[in-house]
Amino acid sequence: MEIIRVKDAQEGGKKAFELVKEEVEKDAKVFGLATGSTPETFYKELINSSLDFSDKISINLDEYIGLSGTDDQSYRYFMNEHLFNKKPFKESYVPNGKAEDLEAECRHYDQIISENPIDVQILGIGQNGHIGFNEPGTPFDTSTHVVKLTESTINANKRNFENVNDVPTHALSMGIGSIMKAKKIILLAYGKAKAEAIKGMVEGEITPDLPASVLQNHPDVVVIVDEEAASLC
Ligand code: GLP
Repeated sequence: MEIIRVKDAQEGGKKAFELVKEEVEKDAKVFGLATGSTPETFYKELINSSLDFSDKISINLDEYIGLSGTDDQSYRYFMNEHLFNKKPFKESYVPNGKAEDLEAECRHYDQIISENPIDVQILGIGQNGHIGFNEPGTPFDTSTHVVKLTESTINANKRNFENVNDVPTHALSMGIGSIMKAKKIILLAYGKAKAEAIKGMVEGEITPDLPASVLQNHPDVVVIVDEEAASLC
């Protein structure tokens, strides 16, 4: 794991952009993308750059179950607003949270991932160490699956909803097994609330209790952290 310390989210976004640019120059074609407030500065850098993604593919990590892409709390909506409307990709995949048959949607998403091996995966991290929506206890070999969100995640994400009862209780998430197959992983984390998770991820035991700790087993991970997120390391 390579750790890059930055001043703040602005500098972190710029650093992540430089790394992604290098990969584009090396012909990376498939990008695994994340939602959350953390990657926003990185997406701004992408939008303001001259990099062209119109022949590239993006595959998002997750989506809330029950929300359609036009719902402004959905991750599809977030991605359209923060990236795709201004920097279009050839194809942009996000799990369908309104699928009638969720198991079939999971297998369909796995198929998309296996047909388009991810060159660069962007990750944020939850306060409890989750990646995507892979909550503590998720086995390391999972593929796309239905997740029951933990109270900690629902509480952390409620700031984006009017009422905590509006936060969906379930989500579809790319599995840890699929994330680990990405050739390169760039994980971003800012702020004190992420410090415990970052410490566990970087120097703790590799355990499903802290899903991000599995990244210690990956050969090419870059972690971009500000001082607060790195404060316990
Ligand atoms: C959600 C997403 C994760 C994201 C996490 C942290 O749970 N599923 O992909 O990493 O939130 O979000 P934030 O960056 O807003 O702290």
